[in-house]
Amino acid sequence: MAKFRKIGVLASGGDAPGMNAALRAITRKALDEGMEVVGIIGGYSGLINDNIITLTPRSVSNIISRGGTFMYSDRCDEFKTEAGMQKAIATCKKHGIEAIVACGGDGTFRGATDLTNRGIPTVGVPCTIDNDITATDYTIGFDSAMNTALKMIDCLRDTCESHARCNVVEVMGRDCGQIALFTALASGAAAAVIPEMPFDEAGTIERIKAMKADGKRGFLVIVSEGVFTEDGKKYGEVLAKKIDAETGVETKFARFAHVVRGGDPTLRDRMTATQMGVRAVELLLEGKSNIVICEIDGKITDLDINYALIADRNYKNKLKPGDLDKFTAEQVAAMKALAAQRHEEIEAIYKMVYETSK
Ligand code: F6P
Repeated sequence: MAKFRKIGVLASGGDAPGMNAALRAITRKALDEGMEVVGIIGGYSGLINDNIITLTPRSVSNIISRGGTFMYSDRCDEFKTEAGMQKAIATCKKHGIEAIVACGGDGTFRGATDLTNRGIPTVGVPCTIDNDITATDYTIGFDSAMNTALKMIDCLRDTCESHARCNVVEVMGRDCGQIALFTALASGAAAAVIPEMPFDEAGTIERIKAMKADGKRGFLVIVSEGVFTEDGKKYGEVLAKKIDAETGVETKFARFAHVVRGGDPTLRDRMTATQMGVRAVELLLEGKSNIVICEIDGKITDLDINYALIADRNYKNKLKPGDLDKFTAEQVAAMKALAAQRHEEIEAIYKMVYETSK
């Protein structure tokens, strides 16, 4: 006899390639365990507005290879209010939804905690192209988004080389520079500009001039969307104009924006989504909730959502007074060690971008 008779699945926040593969795995595994499964359409707003469908094995056919989310997604402000939350709980009661698996990023996990605290055990599966959930080494969608960006950057490399130009490319990553950093390294860019590291603008301009004098024709600079000028302008566009004016290399600007959020998930994302989705159901059956599935050192595991959220705030220097109070000294030390590890990982790759572009 399954621990839960009926569970719900949802996708919330920004979509990510691989979300469908996760929804499929959760649905099929839960059905395999003898549970009924319902899909909550449009994320948390689907719970508020009672937009619920029954899922069968066929409902999730032919989606493992598709980007986006077949159950749609939303960023739902009403869910942050107690009134919205109560509507969501009423929908769960009406349909007999006893537990939920929620796919998304940090906003989704805050919602998951609220549901768990109100009696609906919830497990989070990390899906966001940004790879910005500090507690997990990997979030579903990151690899696909980077590969989509990389393909386009490679196209720009061809034409930059032909015309002896520079292309400054802005890629997504709200507060997190990992998409920019990794694609810069993998595309052989001359520079990466990310919020996590100070950027030497004058030094970069001098490097481009020196490389040009050395016979280099094409230049790429990858900038994260989360970098701004002091007066609040998006830095990528500003930098492109400066490189153009100061190096003598004609410079174009490209913003990839949401393009990298779509498209087919890579093998990495399909695999991880399936492994995490299956694990989420297993853990619910073991009686665990208010957890987020994580990949740590290559293993699929889980952490308490509150711990994960505060570890995230600690890394991003967004701690609020009292945030650390409910954690033990060991937990706080572990959060600090994790933040230091993440900084080291970023710094090592950042250094490599400059060491390998000449
Ligand atoms: O989901 C992450 C993300 O794609 C960020 O990289 C980006 O800043 C943000 O979402 C864009 O959000 P929206 O789709 O709401 O414009």
